[in-house]
Amino acid sequence: MVTKLIGPFAQIVTMCNLPLKGALSEDQLEVIAQGGVVVSDGKILAVGIYTDLETKFPTSEKEVIAEPMVLLPGFVDAHTHICFAGDRANDYAMRISGKSYQEIALNGGGISSTVTHTRNASEQELTELLLRRCDMHLRNGITTCEVKSGYGLSVDDELKMLRCIQKANQSHQISLISTCLAAHTKPAEFSTKNEYINFAVNEILPQVKLQKLSNRVDIFVDTIAFDEPEARFYLDAAKRLGFEITVHADQFSSLGSRLAIEYHASSADHLEASSDSDINLLAKSDVVGVLLPGASMGLGMPYAKGREMLDKGMCIAIASDWNPGSAPMGDLLTQAAVFGASEKFTTAETFAALTFRAAKALQLSDRGSLSEGSLAHLIAFPCKNYREILYYQGSLKPTKIWC
Ligand code: NIG
Ligand code: FE
Repeated sequence: MVTKLIGPFAQIVTMCNLPLKGALSEDQLEVIAQGGVVVSDGKILAVGIYTDLETKFPTSEKEVIAEPMVLLPGFVDAHTHICFAGDRANDYAMRISGKSYQEIALNGGGISSTVTHTRNASEQELTELLLRRCDMHLRNGITTCEVKSGYGLSVDDELKMLRCIQKANQSHQISLISTCLAAHTKPAEFSTKNEYINFAVNEILPQVKLQKLSNRVDIFVDTIAFDEPEARFYLDAAKRLGFEITVHADQFSSLGSRLAIEYHASSADHLEASSDSDINLLAKSDVVGVLLPGASMGLGMPYAKGREMLDKGMCIAIASDWNPGSAPMGDLLTQAAVFGASEKFTTAETFAALTFRAAKALQLSDRGSLSEGSLAHLIAFPCKNYREILYYQGSLKPTKIWC
């Protein structure tokens, strides 16, 4: 077992000892100047002042960082749909000419058109497409990424998507967490949503469980997607099967977040349309609010009320929602920096939303901060001052990544 000391770094922002919920001021950040990290067997053994660690671990191998760099825990993207084929550039052109996401979906475009392309792609093609997106995400500092199914919507195609995610996870450095989003939309071959949700519950979810392809389940609850009785039927079944739950909630209309709370979901994602009372209830709950500014940018719609959510005491993560329809950009750091500037998130709040609070949304307690025993998922930016990272709004990229 090799023990390695990495450093010295101009600054290490550990993201340790910060509360899980609520507002954070910048001076709560722990910043170690001239710091180092000792890693062993893929885990963090110690973090501290570089010269102290040299004395404490005299026999360790050294990886010397010659330029000034700032070290952070790897970013966690808790919500993506990056396993897909095709693109929706035509939808985007229609949207910027004035058609809404909902109108396009109701006219057979939207998610359904990606379902057609994804069903037509072979497992190998789809895995390749996913791997290329993992490359981009890792280069941008994302070391853990959630990926949803939801463009298959048949037993074979949902399982195919989840197998692609499993294979990509095995062959790529990035750590992927899969989620079954069988309840994304009603596929064309079913005449009613109710008929489809019965099918998803009876045919898709049990197979996902049996084949151990995911332990998380998601549903899109909205006026253009599934309504309350359909969602309850699906979520009851998911609970019975022992799945962890997450919900596409309050994107266009308020409803999903209340169900997320009731079903003890790990997270309620989107929340652009959450009402003040939804926010109050979320703040009292253990549900992480995962905000998706990339979807607001892609749809040209208002952001979720992030500032109010933090001030009321919610736990807030920021994720990319990277998908071919509402959020094609995929650049999480750019989105978080631009959103954070608009919502007045402190540096601590944005970093928390990309690290330990995002890990919490995925129920992962082994990453998201640089603490002893955590996974050695480390990203280093070529700068001297951690404030430069958000200041450059995503154009400053990490140049060293350990994962
Ligand atoms: O999170 N809202 C539903 N699902 C995705 C969009 C997926 C798509 O448009 O392909 C979202 O925005
Ligand atoms: Fe989504």
